[in-house]
Amino acid sequence: MKRYLAPSLLSANFYNLKEDITKLKSCDIKYIHLDVMDGLFVPNISMGIPVIKSIKDNVGSDFVFDTHLMIEKPERYVDNFYKAGADILTIHKEATDDVKGTLHSIKDKGMMAGLSINPETDVHVLDDELSVPDLILIMSVHPGFGGQKFIESTLDKVGYLDEERRKKGYRYIIEIDGGVDKTNIKRILKAGVDFVVAGSAVFNGDITKNINDFNEVIGAYNE
Ligand code: DX5
Ligand code: ZN
Repeated sequence: MKRYLAPSLLSANFYNLKEDITKLKSCDIKYIHLDVMDGLFVPNISMGIPVIKSIKDNVGSDFVFDTHLMIEKPERYVDNFYKAGADILTIHKEATDDVKGTLHSIKDKGMMAGLSINPETDVHVLDDELSVPDLILIMSVHPGFGGQKFIESTLDKVGYLDEERRKKGYRYIIEIDGGVDKTNIKRILKAGVDFVVAGSAVFNGDITKNINDFNEVIGAYNE
């Protein structure tokens, strides 16, 4: 599976989003990661439907919208995020009583369905659902804020999921989110991650240089 860097707009400059997104485009970024928070599932509130729709309406054809819902009962908003322009819609296992139903309703709309777990959630809670999601997102920090430290032990979950899909023929993409930087990217790829989300390590400092540095490492895995 091809590996990608998915920059998280959470750490972008919201006053000048257009300039930051233009830089992503010129670095050939394909996936952009959009973090949606509700102040309930996580102790923070971020961007929402109008912001995503506005980006979609303007540069929608340039990117795949990897939308990460850190919200309670995400089943309430599947249609809204579909209409806003989400291409991948990821929900949290911990946020709903109807994981399979919600994943299917995401797929029914033609989006890719993602399923995420928090650092403290055992990966085996996903065992009965592994055939359903198109993507599994392993949170490598406690969701809610950018700029936190990568939790190493979450790589064991990646190893397990990678092994399971090999053994059983599952087709999910493995994504990791939180605390990714230039010091840990190699081990993360080596563990079996396909999509690497990075916020502060992309947008703090020279965006173009940061992406090029990441892509140099990621590119080596794609050869
Ligand atoms: C955290 C979000 C992340 C966040 C990552 O709740 O899901 O996508 O933006 O930021 P960094 O890369 O700074 O940890
Ligand atoms: Zn995220």
